[in-house]
Amino acid sequence: MEIYSQIHAMQLQSRRWQQAGQRISFVPTMGNLHAGHLALVEKAVELGERVVVSIFVNPLQFNDPADFAAYRRSLDADLDKLAPLEVDAVFAPPEDEMYPHGRDATTQVDVPALSGILEGEHRPGHFRGVTTVVAKLFNIVQPDVAVFGEKDFQQLRIIECMVADLDMPVEIIAMPTVREADGLAMSSRNSRLSASQRQLAPLLYQTMQEFRQHYLAAEGNIAQLQAQATAGLAQAGFVVEYFSLRRHEDLAPAKPGDRCLLLVAARLGETRLIDNLCME
Ligand code: PAJ
Repeated sequence: MEIYSQIHAMQLQSRRWQQAGQRISFVPTMGNLHAGHLALVEKAVELGERVVVSIFVNPLQFNDPADFAAYRRSLDADLDKLAPLEVDAVFAPPEDEMYPHGRDATTQVDVPALSGILEGEHRPGHFRGVTTVVAKLFNIVQPDVAVFGEKDFQQLRIIECMVADLDMPVEIIAMPTVREADGLAMSSRNSRLSASQRQLAPLLYQTMQEFRQHYLAAEGNIAQLQAQATAGLAQAGFVVEYFSLRRHEDLAPAKPGDRCLLLVAARLGETRLIDNLCME
């Protein structure tokens, strides 16, 4: 497993693999790796002859500087987790390699159709930061296929939209959310929960599952069910940012008969949790 911190060296290696006719699969991450990330890497190993993982805590996508500062960096532990897998290269650049003219001066990629709602409404500029860094990473790694998690469902849809709109020759593969035994979706941010918050956290997914049961049984109208779920979570100590039923393809508010999913964001103290559940 080679570790690259320079764009040029990574690009050169990718070009060599391409010239040798080898299919490159890619998993972009911000590190602090857990089993959810590793499931993506295992999928990438199945899909490509050469596997690249990037680790870069991208400042452009943090609308809150305190969140950026608190984001856990653990490169050595991350490399230890990747070492037993068949990963050919880890791309882990320093910030000034990615943004040599500063964060504000860089060219940005924006997907206006989906970036202003849900997460985008609560984290202004977040998705522009995501699409900008992913576009750069695609140009650096030049993957044939890239693997993303459904855990960040809106991000996945936005990346798919960017790839289609900009005719990027990358196939996007989605992987299901990996959860802890108690149902909590794995996230790099979970380690920031206090012991009591961690105990409470699975209530989020439980509430989502209950909502789904009532929804599928057509018990009560949707607005009522949403209000009940939100009130229950608030009473337990969550600050719910959204608990919203959306259409699968374009994340527009769901109408009866639509194929839809539930998207949720809630804070426990300073820690923001997001999750989603397909309503089928
Ligand atoms: P990060 O949060 O590190 O996540 C990297 C990838 O792992 C994303 O595709 C995310 O959806 C996936 N992932 C996270 N938790 C998961 C879980 N519990 N189960 C399955 N997959 C999971 O998402 C980002 O980084 C960044 O925005 C990035 C795309 C790297 C751009 O900076």
